[in-house]
Amino acid sequence: MEPPQLEHTQLGSVAGRVIAIAGAGGNLGPTVVQRLVQANASLELAGRDAAPLDALAAGAGEVGTTAVDLLDPDAAKAWSREILDRRGRIDALVHMIGGWRGGKPIDEAPLEDWDFLGPLLIRTLMHTTQVFTAPLLQSGRGRAIVISAGQAQSPTHKNAVYAAAKAAAETWTLALADRFRGTGATANVIVVGSIVTPAMRQESPDKDFSSFTPAEEIAEAIAYLCSDAAASMNGQRLTLRGAS
Ligand SMILES: NC(=O)c1ccc[n+]([C@@H]2O[C@H](COP(=O)([O-])OP(=O)(O)OC[C@H]3O[C@@H](n4cnc5c(N)ncnc54)[C@H](OP(=O)(O)O)[C@@H]3O)[C@@H](O)[C@H]2O)c1
Repeated sequence: MEPPQLEHTQLGSVAGRVIAIAGAGGNLGPTVVQRLVQANASLELAGRDAAPLDALAAGAGEVGTTAVDLLDPDAAKAWSREILDRRGRIDALVHMIGGWRGGKPIDEAPLEDWDFLGPLLIRTLMHTTQVFTAPLLQSGRGRAIVISAGQAQSPTHKNAVYAAAKAAAETWTLALADRFRGTGATANVIVVGSIVTPAMRQESPDKDFSSFTPAEEIAEAIAYLCSDAAASMNGQRLTLRGAS
């Protein structure tokens, strides 16, 4: 499909795009929501707990919220239908559901950690991308974006289970990029290190966060990937953890 012809100044715009964010109520959520709202995108936020989503939506403009457990494939389907009913289309899915287990040497790592991390980091991604694929294709400029961790490509043994789950999520996303090839839709991975948020800087003003990935940079990368400026970028890893 030929990309739409746009003026240069419009290339980076996400104004009016319907962007669904899975896991918006966590650490990274507020910075991403703020960035995209400022850019006049229409947002749909999901997480299990309604309270942080509603707090983000309060007074923020075009922001809808849905309390949903995305471990349930039917609930993921219902979320996508709800967005389509409300907005008529979906232009982007940003998966940023997170959680962590680890810290033990690999030979002692409790394999039950996989029972937590596998569903959390992979199944929720499978459920959402499967039901969002049709609307993203229909959008003509659909975007799937997954936030991954440096551990997926450079694992440390005390994070082996987490690293394996993130690597699987990356591979699924690159396979989705293959599905999208030649359609106008794209799927990409943003690779980050430990994230530092404005709230964390405020809480610990003396802490050295120089080796962390700023939430603002991740929000910027998401906005870029959602825009037409990234129309040709598909199946890539954008790595935001090389500076230190
Ligand atoms: N924070 C870091 O330092 C770091 C480092 C590397 C990579 N990352 C990745 O960056 C992304 C964002 O990180 P983050 O720290 O903002 O993540 P997070 O706060 O750990 O998680 C984001 C949200 O996911 C939601 N969630 C969990 N299970 C869910 C489910 N079954 N259905 C729907 N929502 C669910 C949680 O909300 P509810 O409890 O309300 O459901 C939570 O607020 C994640 O993908 C994470 O793996 C983070």
